Parts: sequence; structure tokens; C-alpha cells
Amino acid sequence: MSEQPPNTTSDAGAPVASDEYSLTVGAAGPVLLQDAYLIEKLAHFVRERVPDRVYHVKASGAFGYFEVTADVTQWTKAAFLSEVGKRTPMFARISSVAGEEGYADTLRDVHGFALKFYTEEGNYDMVGNNTPVFFVRDPMKFPDFIHSQERMSDTGLRSNNAQWDFWTLSPESAHQVTVLMGDRGTPRTLRNMNGYSSDTYMWENAAGEKFWVKYHFKTEQGIENFTDAEARAMVAEDLDYHRRDLWEAIARNDHPSWRLEMQIMPYEDAPNYRFNPFDITKVWPHKDYPLIPVGRMVLDRNPENFFAQVVQAGFDVANFVPGIGPSPDRMVLGRMFAYADSQRYRTGPNYAQLPVNKPINEVHNYNKDGPMRYHHNGNQPVYAPNSYGGPRADPQRYRDPSWFVESAEIMRTAYVPHKDDDDFIQPGTLYREVMSPPEQARLVENIVWHLSQGVERNIQERAVKDYWSKVDPDLGARVADGLGLGSSAR
Ligand code: NDP
Ligand code: HEM
Repeated sequence: MSEQPPNTTSDAGAPVASDEYSLTVGAAGPVLLQDAYLIEKLAHFVRERVPDRVYHVKASGAFGYFEVTADVTQWTKAAFLSEVGKRTPMFARISSVAGEEGYADTLRDVHGFALKFYTEEGNYDMVGNNTPVFFVRDPMKFPDFIHSQERMSDTGLRSNNAQWDFWTLSPESAHQVTVLMGDRGTPRTLRNMNGYSSDTYMWENAAGEKFWVKYHFKTEQGIENFTDAEARAMVAEDLDYHRRDLWEAIARNDHPSWRLEMQIMPYEDAPNYRFNPFDITKVWPHKDYPLIPVGRMVLDRNPENFFAQVVQAGFDVANFVPGIGPSPDRMVLGRMFAYADSQRYRTGPNYAQLPVNKPINEVHNYNKDGPMRYHHNGNQPVYAPNSYGGPRADPQRYRDPSWFVESAEIMRTAYVPHKDDDDFIQPGTLYREVMSPPEQARLVENIVWHLSQGVERNIQERAVKDYWSKVDPDLGARVADGLGLGSSAR
């Protein structure tokens, strides 16, 4: 190589004299405090981390695009969905949930499916999972659920006992736990799984008509899963198997893709639908609300810098664009607070100015200053209202997405029940009508193995009697047999 590489500089850009040697008094003398470059290097080194996400720590990330493949303007006025063929740049962060950065990718876990669409009307973030449902339906229980999955405060170990204690005392978790313990709890790769919004959102068209919607991103690579044994064997072979697979596929131009299909419920259907459509522990059966094609997402570019683009990526469930909004799903409403709060804690109040988080359109508002702010609007007025040409919100043009709420007392209570709002109906359907006999057998095996790892007898009994037997009596009996519990436990 004939070309000289650039000379190393300090962070202020001044050339430095050595990458290898500290400034010392002679060859045997002490290191000097005046070695400003050494001090800068060590001080920067100990500040290399930002706090981890509270969960969904380990992830892969990739850039790509979303292309509209069908006319959906009858349901939404979102500009990025306005025309067949329209492409929007995007970023995806696909994560596991419970473990830390060094955790094994293939261990049984739910996987996050967080998407950022850089639209001309601002960033739209769709933060879902690879499962269509979730463990709890009220944000009040969310931290407790996550605590039950984390390392325990005394041993520093994860505890199956805590997990089954929480799950069996929270019957609404049965549907998600059935999915998690089934084949889809151990996807072969991140490319071989679907993504779902799980939550229900609102779409609104140009005429102001509203619809309740669920997003389904269907893998075009096909669903493929590891068996439990394969997934555990891979832990010994490659802790980073999923991350490596996604990176290598994109690097060899084998770009993974997903079809976006939506379930769309007319606004008026919600009160009388047989399931509460806003309860995230339920799906909308396909025969009630068939999937409607919308578009296709392709991931075609690996990140250049993992920290800057994947770790510091900040998704926010409250990042909607006109034509898309929240619904009465309580989890969505709780999540609309938590994500930006987490970004402000992890990377600071100006996290949205980082390149991976920055919208492609211009930002105009009255937020100012704060640590690490570099984007500004010059001498724009810093208060509203003002007489000097500062940005002005137009309520005729943009309205907050809304719905009608009946006049009611403020209270803490469960959702108003719908006819079929039973926690066990849908997991029972999954077990009996969707899973094949070999899948059922693997489900039983996985549950029995998981319940055998340090779970107290009384919790095993509760898992049989108050949980799996209610999902399905045959499933309960098979789990009881596997655990060596007598028929009285069922
Ligand atoms: P369908 O027969 O129309 O749908 C069943 C769906 O189950 C499939 O389309 C597939 O979802 C998914 N599936 C297949 N194998 C598994 C598995 N091992 N673990 C988890 N999901 C699997 O029936 P319904 O719509 O009436 O739903 C029946 C049950 O299927 C539900 O109670 C729910 O447990 C499950 N399901 C339903 C979904 C929905 O949105 N309606 C979505 C996913 C699961 P996909 O096509 O998304 O791959
Ligand atoms: C990450 C809170 C429910 C999917 C996070 C983070 C917080 C959080 C604080 C870290 C954000 C960050 O620092 O970047 C909550 C709360 C919930 C909830 C309070 C319930 C009320 C859910 C549900 C889903 C979900 C139901 C899926 C449907 C994710 C994903 C990430 C995440 C995928 C990782 C995002 C990324 O890749 O950066 N959540 N969450 N969460 N959550 Fe949730």
C-alpha cells in the first residue's frame, strides 16, 4: 500500500505523536499527567457504554426499505402508504428479550421486531414481536412480568420457578406461553420468523373514517424453527448464531424480506366483537378478519457501526404519522410513555438527533438545548405564540387520532368483558386445531422440561391444574404425566 493512512488525532483533531507509548520521564520514569492524549483515551474508554435497554438488550439491526404493493388509501391517509410502488427507507432491530448482550441467541425466548419507517411526515415506529399476542394485558403488570424473567436479586440467576409462579398466577399469559413453549419459541434464524404488531392500532383515512388494525409481517423465507435440543446445542456452538446469520445473509446479497398483511376491523365492530379487540392476549381469528396485503419490507444493508446504529437506535411506540394512531389497547397507551422515557435515560433528551433516529423531514418545535444538542433552527423564536414567524401548529390540518369514550367513573378495573373473553379459549384452539400431533408432542416435552428446571412442586401442580388443564384437558394430563404428578393434580 503506497497511500499513507491519516495521522491519529485527539478528539479535537490535533495530530498526536504515538499510538503506542505514553509520555514518560525517560524510559524507566513515571507516566506524566500532561499526556492529555492518554488521559482523553482512558477517560473516553471508561465511558464507552450507555445503559442497556431494560430488556430486549441483545439484537441485530439492518437497514432496508418498505414498498407498498396494494392500494390501502380506503383505510389510511398515511403518506408513506399512499401509492402502490412507493418506497420508504427503514431500519429494523430484531432482538431477544430476556438476556443481556452476551446471551445466547437461540435460547427459548420471544423475539422483538422493531421497525422504523423514515417517512416524509416523520418517523413511524412499529415495535412488535414475533408472536401475535403478549403475556399481560395491562401495563401495570408489565414490570412484574419482566422481573420474573430476569436474574433473581439473590442468586443472580434466572429462575424458572419465578417464571412459572408469575405465569400460573396470571392466566392471561396462557396464550403467549403456549406460543413460546411451542416450536415458534425457538426460531431457526431471525429471517425465518414473522413479526406482529400484537397490539391493536388505529388507521384513519382522508375522509376521517377510522379502523382498528393489526400488523402481520410474514417472512418470505418461510417459517423454520429449531427443536429445543437443536436450539440448546447451538448455544455451545455459536452464542451469536442469529446475529451472524442475518449479517451474513445481507452481506451475500441474500436480502431477507417480509410481506406486510393487515387485519382491518371497522371501527363500529369493536364493542360487539366476540373477543375484546384491544386485549393483546387475543388474536383476531383470520376467518373473522382475513389478512389484507399491504406491502413488502426488504432488509438490504448491514449497519456500518453497531453501537451508533443498533445500540443507540431509539424506537418509540408514540411515533405515529398522520393516518396511524393508538387504540384503547391499554398496553399501547402504557408503552407510549415508556419508550421515549427510556431513550432520554439511556442516550439523553436529544436522542432523536442521532443519525439512526433522525427523521428525514425537518423538525420544527420549541424544544431547546439540553446535552449534546447540535441541530438547531438558528435564531428561531423560542416560545409560542410569537410574532416572529416561529412554527405554528394548524389544528384544521392535523388532529390527534381519537375515539369516543362513554361517560364513566375513573377507576382501576379489568376491561369490559366480551362474550368469548376467556383466557384459555385461544391457546386451546392453538393446541387442538393448529398444532399437528408432532408439534403437540414437542410442546408437551418443552413444557415438561421447562417446568422441571428448579420449579417447586406446588407451582408445578398449579401449572397442571389451573393452567394447562384449562388450556386443554389432554394437554394438562400429558404435562402431569411428564412431571410424574398423579391424576389428582389435574
Ligand atoms: P388459522 O388456522 O387461520 O390460523 C392459525 C395460524 O396459527 C396460522 O396462520 C399461523 O400463523 C399460526 N401458527 C401455525 N403454527 C403455529 C405454532 N406452532 N405456534 C403458533 N402459531 C402457529 O386460525 P385462527 O386465526 O382462528 O387462529 C387459531 C389460533 O392460531 C389462534 O388462537 C392463535 O393461537 C394462532 N394464531 C392466530 C393468528 C391470527 O392472527 N389469527 C396469528 C398466529 C397464530 P401465521 O399465518 O401468522 O404464521
Ligand atoms: C423495548 C417498555 C410491552 C416490544 C422496550 C423498552 C422499554 C419497554 C422501556 C426499552 C426501550 C429502549 O430503551 O429502547 C414496555 C412497556 C410495555 C411493553 C412498559 C407494556 C406496557 C411490549 C410489547 C411488545 C414490546 C407488548 C411487543 C408487542 C418491545 C421491543 C423492544 C422493547 C421489540 C425493543 C425495541 C428495540 O429494538 O429497541 N419496551 N414494553 N414491548 N419492547 Fe417493550
